Amino acid sequence: MTNYPETGRKAPAAAETTLLTNVRPYGEGEAVDVLIENGEIAAIGADAGAGKNIDKTINGAGQVLLPGLVDMHVHLREPGREDTETIETGSKAAAKGGFTAVFTMANTMPVMDQPVIAESVWAKAQGLGLCDVHPVGSITKGLAGKDLTEFGMMARSDAKVRMFSDDGKCVADPQLMRRALEYAKGLDVLIAQHAEEPRLTEGAVAHEGATAAQLGLRGWPRVAEESIVARDALLARDYGNRVHICHASTTGTVELLKWAKSQDIPLSAEVTPHHLLLTDDKLRTYDGVFRVNPPLREEHDTLALRQALLDGVIDVVATDHAPHGSEDKCVEFDHAKPGMLGLESSLAVIVKLFVEPGLADWRFIARVMSEKPAEITRLPDHGRPIAVGEPANLTLVDPEARWVSDKTQLESKSENNPYEGIEFGARVTHTLLRGHLTYELDAQDN
Ligand code: NCD
Ligand code: ZN
Repeated sequence: MTNYPETGRKAPAAAETTLLTNVRPYGEGEAVDVLIENGEIAAIGADAGAGKNIDKTINGAGQVLLPGLVDMHVHLREPGREDTETIETGSKAAAKGGFTAVFTMANTMPVMDQPVIAESVWAKAQGLGLCDVHPVGSITKGLAGKDLTEFGMMARSDAKVRMFSDDGKCVADPQLMRRALEYAKGLDVLIAQHAEEPRLTEGAVAHEGATAAQLGLRGWPRVAEESIVARDALLARDYGNRVHICHASTTGTVELLKWAKSQDIPLSAEVTPHHLLLTDDKLRTYDGVFRVNPPLREEHDTLALRQALLDGVIDVVATDHAPHGSEDKCVEFDHAKPGMLGLESSLAVIVKLFVEPGLADWRFIARVMSEKPAEITRLPDHGRPIAVGEPANLTLVDPEARWVSDKTQLESKSENNPYEGIEFGARVTHTLLRGHLTYELDAQDN
């Protein structure tokens, strides 16, 4: 089994010594100070900085300190659609959202199906030093669903590709999926599936239900997702490799995941903030911003997904941050491209749904937004405990900020923000990557 080595040519750790004062790791206990030296946590406690030459002090004001967030599913659009997002703007959006590592999907132009493309994405992001941007390799060449790519060459490249996905498209051919799992098994890389039986979603733009029927929109039935989840669970059982389900969206998928886990089938799953918070009721505006794959579903789906995340049936939150320009969004609903932004509001949505009503604590946030995604993707240096000797990949959160989501205030190049006008409580104030401050909330921000 491959022991994931450190990825090549990583941006160096901060040389300066930073003291975070008055912070509460995981939102628990008395506030402490955290000393960061050479990009690592060097001391934690009331006198962590005593006798040290401190280059920079960050006043934590009693805020919550979390391990840097990890997002398994974003689309940073470079190469190919730099008009909608770039590695730079996407990294800034990630840092603002509290993320220190993200996985950017392969549906770029050209498709990320060769080492050289993956390496260029990795190297560019490391040059910027704002976020570790891990390229996801495609499962099939050109996302065409016919021939497998060279997983081994991408896994061994400088980008150390550790996840493969045709996301945006489903690997619908069961024989091809079987071969992908067998190939991935030898390398211990993750196969992530966009579960959508294409024959059941031809022409579909919305969830198949009462709302789509009233609005005259062609429906995407739940079974299109669930049939692939069931099939891939069985393939994972029989061919023994891990399968990760992207953006789980239905009550039935939750039932299937429960079953698979009860059988010890190595199936993991993510859920997006928008599938947890929003329903197809939003489509009544006919606003193309709300078109997304899989589509926004019904209330019982959101409730089942929330419970599944609480119970660990769904492992992680992933944003599926999918920037699109106004020429593809401010059009008739049928013509809008699917996808919505997520990086800059994900933490706030999850805290609103789980921490604010008292359903979960900050340890839960750390688990589903940092530790678990790092574990599933086998990242050695993210999602680590807040402890001496660990990398200083950290996020500081003000749990009581009041702010309103506003598309004109985003770091992202695009404005397809599904949370426009919604008020949130939690807000990231600082993000650190290997001791470097990659984001600091500006007092001018609303
Ligand atoms: C994504 C995109 O725009 O690339 N769109 C979406 O609706 N989620 C692709 C994807 O994640 O399926
Ligand atoms: Zn997808």
